[in-house]
Amino acid sequence: MKFFIDTANLKDIQEAVELGVLDGVTTNPSLMAKEGIRGTDAVMSHYKQICEIVDGDVSAEVIATDYDGIIREGEALAELHPNIVVKVPMIRDGVKAIKYFSEKGIKTNCTLIFTAGQALLAAKAGATYVSPFVGRLDDIGADGLQLIQQIVDIFSNYGYPTQVLAASVRHVPHLIQCAELGADVVTCPLNVITGLLNHPLTEKGLATFLADHAKVNA
Ligand code: G3P
Repeated sequence: MKFFIDTANLKDIQEAVELGVLDGVTTNPSLMAKEGIRGTDAVMSHYKQICEIVDGDVSAEVIATDYDGIIREGEALAELHPNIVVKVPMIRDGVKAIKYFSEKGIKTNCTLIFTAGQALLAAKAGATYVSPFVGRLDDIGADGLQLIQQIVDIFSNYGYPTQVLAASVRHVPHLIQCAELGADVVTCPLNVITGLLNHPLTEKGLATFLADHAKVNA
């Protein structure tokens, strides 16, 4: 399973790279705004900086919601760096644009997926990734992980090459369950990735080992 970090924060991205387990980055307009990145030039330059830090796919989202605008923005993003994946919302013109990008060899990530039907449409249009939002479904009392299971099963039934990128992954149990279900990728904040390090018995056991070593080597 690939680990992507879901942030536009360069420090967090660098820290995940240094841990040695990062396969890519996802961003969205909200995450860019959170970092105070404003204006097209600043946004483009920020994406380039991210691509220079990470050796892997970097999802950069279009803002346009009409076909021509999505194509224009997506092509400009794809020209920035070979690692850019054009992130396109699950809307009618988005599906059409994904088909266009797929025929041009431009990688895409279809975002804001909340049903298996939406994932199926995106896969048929040739999306490289679909991003079902696990946490946001849980937020409204639905079952985000059940959606991951459905999409994994459907793609496997037909051998679709589209990868299931579990997004809105909020905590360690989400990540582990996505792995059990066979998601190809999870994207989450840094604290979820580093959260995998922790267990109280690991800390306690290490403290005991070090104390015993100190006793006999005093
Ligand atoms: O990748 C999508 C993600 O950024 C949404 O996460 O926690 O805002 O639902 P969240």
